[in-house]
Amino acid sequence: MPTTPRPVKTVLASVTAAVLLAAAAATPAHAQSPPLRDLADQQGLRMGAAVASHLLDDADYRRTAATEFNSVTHENDLKWESVQPQPGQYSWSGADRLVEFAEQNGQQIHGHTLVWHSQLPSWVENGSFTPAELTQVMEDHIDTTMGRYRGQIQTWDVVNEPIGDDAQFRNSVFHRVLGEDFIAQSLHMARAADPEATLFINDYNIDGINAKSDAYYELAQDLLAQGAPLDGIGLQGHLISGQLPQDIQQNIQRFADLGLEVMITELDIRMTMPVTQQKLEQQARDYTQVMDACLAVSGCSGVTVWGVTDAHSWVPDHFTGEGAALPIDDDYEAKPAYWSIHEALGGDGQNGPDDPGPGEPGTGTCEVAYDFTSQWGQGAVVEVTVHNGSGSAVQDWSLTWERPSGEQISSAWNSLIQQSGTTVTAGPVEWNRSIAPGGQVSFGFQTTHAGAPSVPGGFSLGSESCTIR
Ligand code: XIL
Repeated sequence: MPTTPRPVKTVLASVTAAVLLAAAAATPAHAQSPPLRDLADQQGLRMGAAVASHLLDDADYRRTAATEFNSVTHENDLKWESVQPQPGQYSWSGADRLVEFAEQNGQQIHGHTLVWHSQLPSWVENGSFTPAELTQVMEDHIDTTMGRYRGQIQTWDVVNEPIGDDAQFRNSVFHRVLGEDFIAQSLHMARAADPEATLFINDYNIDGINAKSDAYYELAQDLLAQGAPLDGIGLQGHLISGQLPQDIQQNIQRFADLGLEVMITELDIRMTMPVTQQKLEQQARDYTQVMDACLAVSGCSGVTVWGVTDAHSWVPDHFTGEGAALPIDDDYEAKPAYWSIHEALGGDGQNGPDDPGPGEPGTGTCEVAYDFTSQWGQGAVVEVTVHNGSGSAVQDWSLTWERPSGEQISSAWNSLIQQSGTTVTAGPVEWNRSIAPGGQVSFGFQTTHAGAPSVPGGFSLGSESCTIR
C-alpha cells in the first residue's frame, strides 16, 4: 500500500485568493453537484440533520452526515434521560461524540433539549418536589448541560412541547409544580448558564396558523413582555405529504415579526407506504414548499431534517404504515425531495452526469488511504495514498477534502497543498503529475490539531468522490 515518501520537501503553499483562482481555472469543470451544505452556506442558511451518535460507526452514515449538512442536532443523546438518568449522575459519551464530530466537520449544533415532559427519567417525572426543589433540579440540569458545551452549542431548545394538542399547557411535572412560569424560569436559567446561546421553544403542529400556533404566538408575546430571554421558536415540521398547511410562510413571518429567530427544527414529510413515484413527486413539492417558506422570511435561519436517511427515521416506528419521510432513501440515494431542497437552495436541482449522489463513496475507481504514521500531543504525521482504479491515467490530479476544524497542516511533501477555510486541495509536484491506470501516488504532511486527529469524511479526485479504505 503506502510507498516510501521521497525525501522531505516542504512545498506548502500559503493561500491567497490569487493562487486559488489560478488553481480553479486550471482544473476541469466540476461535473458533480455541490452538496446541500455548500449551497446552504451560500444562502447563509443552516441546513441540518438529526444525528444519532451510535450510528457514526457506519462509514456511509458518517460521510453523508458530514458531507450534506452544515448543522446537526442530537436525535436523542442530549435528552434528559440520556444525560442525567439518575439524580446528579451525568453521562456524556453519546452527546460528546456528536459534538466532536460536528467540530471536526465544521458544523453548527442545535442543542435538543433541556426541559421536556418526554424522555424524562422517572426520578424527575414521578418525583414529588416542592417548587423550590424542582427549581433546583432544573437549574442543576440546565446549568450543567449547557455549561459543558458553552461555546460549542450555539442554539438550544430550552423548553420542548410545553403546549398540548388542545392548545392548553400540557400536564407535566414542571407545569404541575411550577405552573406556566416554568417556561420563563427555564429561559432565565438557560441565559445564566450560557449568555451567548440563542434560546428557543420548540413544538410540533405549529407549522401553519392554527389554535396551537396561536397559543404559541400569545405565549411568545407574554414571555417577551415580561422580559424572559426568548430568542427563537422552533417549528418541528413533522408533516404529512400532500397535507401541508398552506400558510407556513405567514406563520413564520408573524413569529419573525415579534423579533424571534425561526427555525424548522425537525422536518420530515411522511407518506403511506409503499412508496410510489407519484408519492415521491408529491413529497418533493412539499419539501419545496417548506424550503421556500423559510427562505422567503429573513428571520428564518435554518431547516433541519429529522434523520440522515429514511433508514434512520423515527417515522416507521412511531406512525404505523407510514415512512419514507426524508430526502435521502434507505440506500443513501437522493430522492426527488433531495433535489427539491437542492434547487430551493440555488443548486441546479439535478444530478450531474458523474455524480454518485449524496455522500456516496463514488464509482470505486478512486480510492484513498489516510493513515497516521505517527502521533503526539497536538500533532500527527499523515500519509495519503491515492489509487487510480480507472482504465486511464489521471493527469495533474487534484484531491480535495474538508479539514476537520481546529486542524492545521504545517508542512507537506510530495504534494502541493493549499488550504482555504476548511477545504484542503492537494495537487502534484513535478515528479508525480500523472497517476497511471491502476497506479497510485502517496504524499504526506504534518498537522496540528485541537482534539484527537481524525480521518476526513470524504475525498474527491477532480469531480469524482473516492472510496476511503
Ligand atoms: C424522537 C426520536 O427521533 C426517536 O428516536 C425517539 O424514540 C423519540 O423521539 N419531537 C421531538 C424529538 O422533539 O425529540 C422527537 O424525537 C420527535 C418529536
